[in-house]
Amino acid sequence: MCGIVGYIGKSAAPPILINGLRRLEYRGYDSAGMAIVDHGKIVVAKAAGKVANLNDKAKAEWPASRFTESSYGIAHTRWATHGPPTEVNAHPHLDQSGDIAVVHNGIIENYRSLRAKLEAKGSKFVSETDTEVLAHLIGDRYRGDLFQAVCDALHQVEGTFGIAVISAKEPGKIITARRGSPIVLGIASGETIVASDASAILSHTQRVIYLDDNDIALVTADHVDIRDLNNVPVNREISELEFDAGSAEKGGHEHFMLKEIFEQPDCLRNAIRGRLDFSIGSSVLSGMGTSPRDLAEIHRVVLVGCGTSLHSGLIGEYAIEDLADTLAEVQQAAEFRYRNPIIGRNDLVLAISQSGETADTLAAVREAHQKGAFVMGLCNVVGSTIARETGRGIYLHAGPEISVASTKAFTSQVAVLLMIALKLGRARRFSREDGLAFALGIESIPSLVEKVLESNDKIAQLAEGYLHQQHAFFIGRGPMYPVALEGALKLKEISYIHAEGYHAAELKHGPIALLEKGTPVIALANDIPGKDKTLGNIEECKARGARILGLITEGDEEAAAVMDDIITIPACHPLIATIPTAVALQLFAYHIARLRGCEIDQPRNLAKSVTVE
Ligand code: G6P
Repeated sequence: MCGIVGYIGKSAAPPILINGLRRLEYRGYDSAGMAIVDHGKIVVAKAAGKVANLNDKAKAEWPASRFTESSYGIAHTRWATHGPPTEVNAHPHLDQSGDIAVVHNGIIENYRSLRAKLEAKGSKFVSETDTEVLAHLIGDRYRGDLFQAVCDALHQVEGTFGIAVISAKEPGKIITARRGSPIVLGIASGETIVASDASAILSHTQRVIYLDDNDIALVTADHVDIRDLNNVPVNREISELEFDAGSAEKGGHEHFMLKEIFEQPDCLRNAIRGRLDFSIGSSVLSGMGTSPRDLAEIHRVVLVGCGTSLHSGLIGEYAIEDLADTLAEVQQAAEFRYRNPIIGRNDLVLAISQSGETADTLAAVREAHQKGAFVMGLCNVVGSTIARETGRGIYLHAGPEISVASTKAFTSQVAVLLMIALKLGRARRFSREDGLAFALGIESIPSLVEKVLESNDKIAQLAEGYLHQQHAFFIGRGPMYPVALEGALKLKEISYIHAEGYHAAELKHGPIALLEKGTPVIALANDIPGKDKTLGNIEECKARGARILGLITEGDEEAAAVMDDIITIPACHPLIATIPTAVALQLFAYHIARLRGCEIDQPRNLAKSVTVE
C-alpha cells in the first residue's frame, strides 16, 4: 500500500525514481510525486493519477538538466488514506522551511494533536495528510542534524511508518526508517536504493538489507549506517533476492494478471518441489520446525488472513479437518485481534499472507504470540514482516505477484495448506496408503492446472455471454464453497460486476430473491460429495430464470445436462479440485474484465498490500 523509492548514487536520480515507481505502482496508484535537490533547493514534482502523469508533468515543468544532474532523490506512489488523491495531497511533503522532503507509507495516528501543536508554533499546512505533519515535525526538531531530527520526530509519532527523508541542507544522504511498514535497502556498487519493496530494486541489484521495526538508517551512495531510534547501532545482514528483474515484467502477456495465471503450473511445482516424501506418504515442511510429536499435540489450527488469503484459509480448514481429524477454524485477521480470541499453547495459528505485510494479519500474529500459541507464517514475499515475526513457516515460492488481484499466490497457498493438512494427518490417523494417494494427488496439481489453462480460449468465448451483467452469484459446497467466494471476489475486483459467493444451500435463504431472468449463477458442481444437492440448488435457480455456468467434472453428462454453459475440470480428489477450479474462475473473471475494458492489473480503489488496519 503506497510505494516508496529513493535513490542515491552515480546515475541521474529522476529516471531511476520514475522507473522504481512504475515497479511499485501495483501497491497504490492514485497519485505520485518525487523530490530532488537542485542548486541547493528541494524541488518537487507531483501529479494526481498514475506515475505516467508524474513523468509527463516533471518533463513539462522541470528543466532537462534536472533529469541528468541530480544524483539523489525520493519518490512515492500513493493509495490515499488521509485526504483525497489530489496533487496537493500527493507525497513528498515539505516542512515549513521547504528544506526537508518526506515520503511516507503507513498512518500517523496522532497526527491531529501533532498538527495542532505545530500550528500553534506557526506551521502552515497545505494538505490534508498525516505525512505533512511528520515533515513539519522533523523540520521543527531540526538542529543541524537530519538523522537526529528524524529520530526525535519519530519518538513523538504513534502509528506506522516507512519513510524516506532528504534535506537541502544535508546533501548526499537519505534518512529512512520503518515501523510496521516495510523498507528494503538495495546495496549496489556506488549506489543505494531505498524502497518499500524489492521489486523497485531488482533492476539494480539482488543484494538487499531489510530494516526491522524501529530501525533508522543513514544512507549514502556507498554506505548505510543502521541504528535503532535511540541511536544505538544495529547489525542487519545483507540477503540475496531469489528472483531477477524479469520476474517482475509482463513477459509478452497483455496483463500481469494473465501472465501470473499462466505461471501457475510452474509456481505450483516450485511450491511442491522437495516437499513430498512418497516413502512415508507425507510432506516434508522443514520450515515448520515441528516433530511428529509436536504435531500430534496440536489441539486446534486457527487460520488467519484477509481477502484472497482468507479464502485459501477456508480451504485449509476443510483440508485440515478432513485429513488430519483436527479442529480447524478460520478467522478474519482483523477480527482475531479484537475479539480477544481463546487461544492456548496447543493451538497452531497459521498466518496466511502473500505480501507478509498486511497490517491486520500482522496484528493477529502478534496477538497469537501474546497468547502463547504456536505461530507460523505462510508468506510469498521472502523476508517480509510476517515471515520474520513468525520465525517459522513455509514460503510459497510463487515469485513476485504484481497484479493486484491475487492468482498464483492463492493457488500456491492452497497447495501448501494441503501439504500441511497431509503432514498433520500423518501425525495422527491418516494411514501411509491414504497419505501416499493424497501426496500423488498433490503432485498432479500442476498438470491439472495446465489442462484448465488449455481451455483459455473457450473461457474467453464464454465470457462474452456474461459481459453485460450487473450481478453474478457463485455457489459451491464443501471445499468448493470457499472457491465460490474467491471466484466472486476475482470478478468484482477486476470487472466491477457485483458478485457474491454463497454456499449452494444458502442461496434459497434470501439471495434467491435477487435472481431474475438471465442473472448469472456460476455453479461449482464438480463431481464431489454433495454434487446431487448442488444440482438441486441449480434447478431452483433455473426455475427463476437464472443462467447457469457450471464448472463440472470432465465427462459428467448428468451435470452437463443441467447447465446452460459449462467449463470442465479434470477429475481429482475434491480438495485437490479446488485449485484447477479456482484457475478456471480466474480466467473467467480476467476475460470479462478485459472485454469490459477494465484496468485489470490496477483496479480502482484497491491496493496490493494493505498496511493499514
Ligand atoms: C489486499 C489485496 C488482496 C489480498 C489481501 C491480503 O486486499 O488487494 O488481493 O488478498 O490484501 O493480502 P496478503 O498480502 O496478506 O495476502
